[in-house]
Amino acid sequence: MKFFIDTADLDEIREANAMGVLDGVTTNPTHVSKEEGTFEDIILRICEIVDGPVSAEVVGTEWQVMVEEARHISSIHEHVVVKIPITPDGLKAIKACSEEGIRTNVTLCFSPNQALLAAKAGASYISPFLGRLDDIGHVGMDLVRTIQKIYGNYGFHTQVLAASLRSPLHVVEAALAGADVATLPPDVLKKLLTHPLTNAGLERFLNDWNAWKEKQEEGVMV
Ligand code: E4P
Repeated sequence: MKFFIDTADLDEIREANAMGVLDGVTTNPTHVSKEEGTFEDIILRICEIVDGPVSAEVVGTEWQVMVEEARHISSIHEHVVVKIPITPDGLKAIKACSEEGIRTNVTLCFSPNQALLAAKAGASYISPFLGRLDDIGHVGMDLVRTIQKIYGNYGFHTQVLAASLRSPLHVVEAALAGADVATLPPDVLKKLLTHPLTNAGLERFLNDWNAWKEKQEEGVMV
């Protein structure tokens, strides 16, 4: 499973990239609105940090406008994947982008039929938003399982990108469900490594080692 980070914060992206396991980045208008500078500059700087796909989202709502934006956004850097919401106009824009060879990440997906339509239109990625489904009392991960099954039935190449993940357990479940990608908020990425037994175990090993070394040095001194 590939790991993307879900932020437009350059420091967070640099830190995650330094871990050596980062495959890409997803941004959205909310993330970008928290940063300084122009949209183009923010996306370009992210692309220069991470050697992988960087999703940047259109904000137009009519398909012709979305396609114009997609052409512009995809010209910023070769890493850019254009994020398009799965609306009726969005679907037309995804199809047009696919025909022009512009890679798309189809966002705000909350149903299997939206995912099926996105794949038929030639989407590169589909982003089911699991946490937001959980928030309204659904089992978000069921959507990933259903999409995987449908895509498998028909051999679609659209990659399933588990989005809106809120916890390490979400990551485990996404991996078990066969998601191609998980996009993680920075705090969730850090939590994946953390386990209290690892910390306690390491502390004990180092204490025992140091005590042994001290004894050896005392022996040598005597
Ligand atoms: C993914 O591409 C989205 O930007 C993101 O996962 C949304 O997450 P949220 O529901 O926590 O805002």
